[in-house]
Amino acid sequence: MAVNASKQQIQVPHDRSLTRADCGNIGRATRRGAGLKLQLARRVQSGISNILRTNEYRTLPGDFQEKNGHNPEFMDEPEPEHGHESVMLAETIEALAVRPGAVVVDCTVGRGGHSVAVAAALGPEGKLIGLDADPRNIEYARTRLQTAGCPVHLFNANFSELDLVLREVGIPQVDALLADLGLSTNQFLTPDYGMSFSEQGPLDMRIDPRTRLTASQIVNRFGERELADLLYHLSDERFSRRIARKIVEARKVSPIKSTSDLAELVRSAVPSTGAGRAGTRIDPATRTFMALRMKVNEEVENLSRLLEVAPGHLKPGGRMAVISFHSVEDRAVKQAFRFAEQTGLLKVVTKKPLSPSDLETARNPRARSAKLRVAEKT
Ligand SMILES: C[S@@+](CC[C@H](N)C(=O)[O-])C[C@H]1O[C@@H](n2cnc3c(N)ncnc32)[C@H](O)[C@@H]1O
Repeated sequence: MAVNASKQQIQVPHDRSLTRADCGNIGRATRRGAGLKLQLARRVQSGISNILRTNEYRTLPGDFQEKNGHNPEFMDEPEPEHGHESVMLAETIEALAVRPGAVVVDCTVGRGGHSVAVAAALGPEGKLIGLDADPRNIEYARTRLQTAGCPVHLFNANFSELDLVLREVGIPQVDALLADLGLSTNQFLTPDYGMSFSEQGPLDMRIDPRTRLTASQIVNRFGERELADLLYHLSDERFSRRIARKIVEARKVSPIKSTSDLAELVRSAVPSTGAGRAGTRIDPATRTFMALRMKVNEEVENLSRLLEVAPGHLKPGGRMAVISFHSVEDRAVKQAFRFAEQTGLLKVVTKKPLSPSDLETARNPRARSAKLRVAEKT
């Protein structure tokens, strides 16, 4: 496929998966040709980036008790069918106002649960475009969506590359867009992703194997101060300095290789009783693992980029729904929607976020902290 960026033809292979090099080439050429984006987009972006950079970006301590998948309480839950149980499924379909014949983007296809339901609502005249940064999940969903009732275009792509994906399919504006943030349960539970501190696994944490930075590189190469700052800023870890010191001391003896080695180190670095620990059921390694995962997968930057570009890809009246699992993300979504409303780009549909019903959280405790926010293009 040839993409016209900056009057320069960029060839993109027809195999549906955009490579990083393709994206880089198109992105650079587009930036050269188009210059800076609309003032409006910049204002929204700078607002979001500020939120994400400052203290407001810190998670509230209580969040971790309900953090999807990283709570030992949830680790004991059986792995659901398809590796993940979709959260707030009926509410999401309703919120997106999916109607037959529409075009919908699922930015986080995962194991395909939301996508299957969206495709059923779209009917044969509709179209589903799906993205996921994890090639394993997108392949699983591809199989599951083979019998979908509408044409489906799946991409192993990051949602920060939404512009490029929509250019590839030749549909600049869509009727609805969904992002169900975070990780799927199978990613937390499968040891070789390296996300789980209750299983022995490599210190990897990449959902996309094309990502260059791994958790091992951070843990074994970052300076003590850099490590401590990362833990403090990304997960509000109050023992960040102690943990960083312990990591640096341990790796002088031998590299830290596995998730369980790291989890043990962190546990040994923090006091077993006292402020912040007494009475908690949360594993002391929780925040460290979360901060590393966020850094490795550039979660802040990618969400920021998605929130910046998504409204521009909605048709008037089109809807955007975002499900988040902790206050960091929820606040970013809320602020982005608010900025976009102030600038006349979106109308916020959910003044307060929707939460899962008691019935759903009883059946699926992992859904407990989900928040669904919806906005409509004006
Ligand atoms: C909570 S799961 C989605 C589950 C899905 N809605 C379902 O019903 O099966 C989140 C998915 O988003 C993907 N993901 C996370 N960050 C991403 C990003 N920046 N770009 C694309 N996919 C991403 C993860 O790999 C994971 O598969």
